Amino acid sequence: MTSPIILALDTDDLATAISWIEATRESVDIYKVGLEFFLKFGSAGLQELSKQGNFQFFLDLKLHDIPNTVSGAVASIRDLKPRFLTVHASGGSAMIRAAADAAPEVAITAVTVLTSLDEPELHKMGINSTPLALATSLATNSVSAGAKAIVCSPLEVAAIRELVSEDIALITPGVRPADSNLEDQSRVMTPRDAIRAGATFIVVGRPITSYFNKSAQAMRERAAEIKESIS
Ligand code: C5P
Repeated sequence: MTSPIILALDTDDLATAISWIEATRESVDIYKVGLEFFLKFGSAGLQELSKQGNFQFFLDLKLHDIPNTVSGAVASIRDLKPRFLTVHASGGSAMIRAAADAAPEVAITAVTVLTSLDEPELHKMGINSTPLALATSLATNSVSAGAKAIVCSPLEVAAIRELVSEDIALITPGVRPADSNLEDQSRVMTPRDAIRAGATFIVVGRPITSYFNKSAQAMRERAAEIKESIS
């Protein structure tokens, strides 16, 4: 069974990313590559990481543009065969449909509301909605347009799970084991509670990667411990 942990490779150093993969492969089957890594190393960097073994990528590029442009962008990375590729749900139905059509074998993954946006900020932007109400309508709209996965806050997972079918993966960052630092995350849940609330996968970064500063073995044990806490 695929591990529910998606490890965020938030580093601009190729060797570090490779070491993190080596240290966590027993507990992780999907690695998240974001803009920090991808803008520096591109497709060649991803291919380099692929040599480390048999795992999948969550390519977190958060695409957001007119449908034709997004379609072209998705076609450009299609050969990399990521399992998940993110687009902003607020790009609308036609954009999401264009992304899904450009790579039918990739799970187009719609990012609902960034957790950095709170209700007062939404109002300033002219959006008279709560983050929860907006996230649920963005999620259902995205799924209708062809998205196969949704990224949302752990606090929104239960509401969205009620509205979308079981085959839609719900992916949540913003998780923190009970014993760890909150860092810059505020509205958090433990990995276990996020999965219980209906998440399919949790995205974890620093609660695991920071252990590499101690040793690769400490990182390996930390990833195993978090996986164990969920099962
Ligand atoms: O280190 P940490 O566990 O906070 O990393 C979580 C990952 O999830 C990072 O790659 C971050 O960009 C991403 N993320 C997040 N909160 C969101 C959306 C994405 O932490 N609301």
